[in-house]
Amino acid sequence: MDKPIYKRILLKLSGEALLGKGSFGIDTNVLKFVAKEIGDVHALGVQIGIVIGGGNIFRGMEASTKGIDRVSADYMGMLATAMNSLALQNALENHGIPTRVQSAIGMKEIAEPFIKRRAVRHLEKGRVVIFACGTGSPYFTTDTAASLRAMEIQADVILKATNVDGVYDKDPVKEKDARIFSKISYTEVLTRNLKVMDSTAVSMCRDNNLPLVVFNIEKIGNIRSVVCGKPIGTIIEGEK
Ligand code: GTP
Repeated sequence: MDKPIYKRILLKLSGEALLGKGSFGIDTNVLKFVAKEIGDVHALGVQIGIVIGGGNIFRGMEASTKGIDRVSADYMGMLATAMNSLALQNALENHGIPTRVQSAIGMKEIAEPFIKRRAVRHLEKGRVVIFACGTGSPYFTTDTAASLRAMEIQADVILKATNVDGVYDKDPVKEKDARIFSKISYTEVLTRNLKVMDSTAVSMCRDNNLPLVVFNIEKIGNIRSVVCGKPIGTIIEGEK
């Protein structure tokens, strides 16, 4: 029997992970797949917090280069994460997994407000907590929101889901000879400017010594394998 090596995790999903083969919105088959994968980890008794991006619906940074004021664009991006959070909540509950959505921006008719102590209580009761609307502040990415929430709920690790197998020395989609790291330090990620998460998110993990595992979510069973300590993806941690 696989045994989890983490008690509490923060899973970071990008909005793009929900795109499937489409170029906009949510592919419900992908949503079902992700919900099942999360359900398999939940069944191990692992406490799960989730931060989800919104890039499948609206990309704040991109819009800000096309004439929308950066602050407005970032708020629009946060609203996109709320939509994804509700979609994921629904998919998880269809799998019989209890969930709560907490939002960094007040929208009480739709989601609970983010209250750290309440989030922890939900986790202790076995509910998956989905954190919507990033940090609630413009100029911060949802990766940074993931670092922040992970710190706040005292997660043991951040699992950063991507569509490649881990962290590479160069872009694996463009460069055939890109090499994957099984382990790398936060400092190396920052100094080599490896595009794993933005530098604020990585620095926060470094300063608080929070390990980060980057892995491919498209492969069946990967989240569960990572949670059980199998050598999947890339682990980012401090120098020993
Ligand atoms: P316990 O206190 O552990 O029983 O947690 P609970 O979440 O079940 O209790 P509560 O009575 O606070 O919540 C019941 C339901 O209402 C849950 O689905 C919550 O997510 C939801 N809920 C609670 N507060 C809010 C809120 O401010 N806005 C919205 N939209 N839903 C809320």
